[in-house]
Amino acid sequence: MREFILRARTAKTSADFDTNNLPAAGRMDSVCASVSNALNIANTLRKDTAIHVVMEGGPEPPKLLSFYGDRLKGMAWDEKSIGEFIKNALAKGKGMEVGEKREFCDGLLVEKKSFEALVKEKIKEGKQVLYLHQEGKDIREAKLHEDIVVVFGDYIGMPRATEGLLDRLGAERVSLGPKMLFAAHCIIVAHNELDRKFG
Ligand SMILES: C[S@@+](CC[C@H](N)C(=O)[O-])C[C@H]1O[C@@H](n2cnc3c(N)ncnc32)[C@H](O)[C@@H]1O
Repeated sequence: MREFILRARTAKTSADFDTNNLPAAGRMDSVCASVSNALNIANTLRKDTAIHVVMEGGPEPPKLLSFYGDRLKGMAWDEKSIGEFIKNALAKGKGMEVGEKREFCDGLLVEKKSFEALVKEKIKEGKQVLYLHQEGKDIREAKLHEDIVVVFGDYIGMPRATEGLLDRLGAERVSLGPKMLFAAHCIIVAHNELDRKFG
């Protein structure tokens, strides 16, 4: 499976936000665009793909939302509708304890789990983990596995300490190209590189 992990450092972790103003909810617009870009292609969903978003804004960080393309149903693919889904999932996840997990609907899980814990879990599962970094090795020169986890930051970027941890865990830094892209754009470029290799 192809998995993406977005660290959304300011995205709200409660349901009290207005889906008509997603940027004000800690840049929830970028989260919604990332979910859409990860799972949508023309006419269908990418059934081989999941996206995990670790939300770290107030008031109950962290909240991990995991979307699975093979099971999701009934979610419209515009940012506002995705925002509604997230809002309702966060309402269901209110007051969760660390390690707790709740299924909001088929294909959308809410957990109380940190970014670091999730990445360590993926490494333990034996997955290849890539960290998207503008100054990393060109993705076209990297040895890519079909079963892969692609980690990236939001508009703030990844904290230095986490970058150190990713290095220690063996996550390879790879670049998608010379320009600094929006987080949501990185997903499309990474998908395209992987599609070219694996179909
Ligand atoms: C909008 S950028 C982050 C900007 C932030 N101010 C910074 O300097 O890190 C969001 C994320 O996209 C990824 N990214 C953006 N452009 C990239 C590129 N050309 N190659 C690889 N990753 C990229 C990185 O993971 C980055 O943390």
